[in-house]
Amino acid sequence: MALILGIESSCDETAAALIEDETRLLSNVVASQLDTHGKYGGVVPELASREHLRAIVPVVRSAMEEARASWKDLSAVAVTQGPGLVGSLLIGVTYAKALSFAHTIPLIGINHIEGHIHAVIMEAAGRGEPVEYPALALVVSGGHTHLFEVREGFAYRLLGKTRDDAAGEAFDKVGKLLGFGYPGGPVIDLLAPHGNPRGVKFTATKMKGNPLDFSFSGLKTAVLRWTEAHDIQEEVAGRRELLRRNPKPGVEEWLAVTPPRTLDVIASFQGTVIEELLRRAARSADEIEARTIIVSGGVACNSGLRAAAQSARLPVRTLFPAPGLSTDNAAMIAAAAFPKLRRGEFADFGLKAQANLSLAG
Ligand code: KG4
Ligand code: ZN
Repeated sequence: MALILGIESSCDETAAALIEDETRLLSNVVASQLDTHGKYGGVVPELASREHLRAIVPVVRSAMEEARASWKDLSAVAVTQGPGLVGSLLIGVTYAKALSFAHTIPLIGINHIEGHIHAVIMEAAGRGEPVEYPALALVVSGGHTHLFEVREGFAYRLLGKTRDDAAGEAFDKVGKLLGFGYPGGPVIDLLAPHGNPRGVKFTATKMKGNPLDFSFSGLKTAVLRWTEAHDIQEEVAGRRELLRRNPKPGVEEWLAVTPPRTLDVIASFQGTVIEELLRRAARSADEIEARTIIVSGGVACNSGLRAAAQSARLPVRTLFPAPGLSTDNAAMIAAAAFPKLRRGEFADFGLKAQANLSLAG
């Protein structure tokens, strides 16, 4: 029996989870800092570090308690080493080292992006329908939009990535621009079905060079231009007022302060992002003759993306994680550590937090 404690603190979620024997999720605790950062319209790094420091001990403790585990049961403690905010990463890395030292437990450093991919690999294995290789992984979150080839034994090759904004970042910036607060992704997802995705024409960015790279800043600017060309100050003020009264409005409340033309912008924006993501995913899956497509990261929660991917547009079996395993969590970090445990790839106390850690060149 092998039991791994995973710890994640790369951005604005403090998380701890325990997994037994590769696929059995015993606990999965996530303390979100949304309430702290929401009012600033984005993650404030100094506040994030402070919140991680406050949360890390109780979060790890409740993950251990929920799993009814004690320190001596652990085969390893796995921690996100990067990429992410360096002050945030440091809290997780330092605490993991302290646990490893105090309880003599092997330490494993994990790349956050590899974690997102392993969320899907773990769930598929748990269902008895393992991922088949080579696989194509599309990692779409607030910080990353990457396409990787994943080969047997977890060898990664980068096929394409965003040249500017990540997809989640585009959702967040557009959400903020239109007065929907932070993060924008979930609200845009909620409202997009109420607009016409062909209502506003947003053209895909033409790019030279690698056709598998992404670019979302042009699309974001196109939405900005639309807001400048239309008189929307009043409705934006209405939404900000709604957020002041109620930090988590439901769909009906949003609809009451969002006219059809804005719903069309939202639907058209989301539709364009989905098209860009899926077109490149399909093309790269073709190129590497992928046998599975893995979509992961916060934007993998998007219901429009899930529906479009399932409606037979992609050439092979396409897997999304359960929503709770799409956004940042520590189960994915523990899951990614099992192959390293098997191979004896342990870290020493020199393990560093690396803000720009990459998964593959
Ligand atoms: O993976 P994640 O929790 O953190 C990073 O590693 O960045 O992803 C957070 C991102 C945010 O940009 C958020 O707006 C986006 O995922 N997101 C969504 C949805 N839920 C979260 N984007 C679109 N639709 C959603 N339902
Ligand atoms: Zn993430």
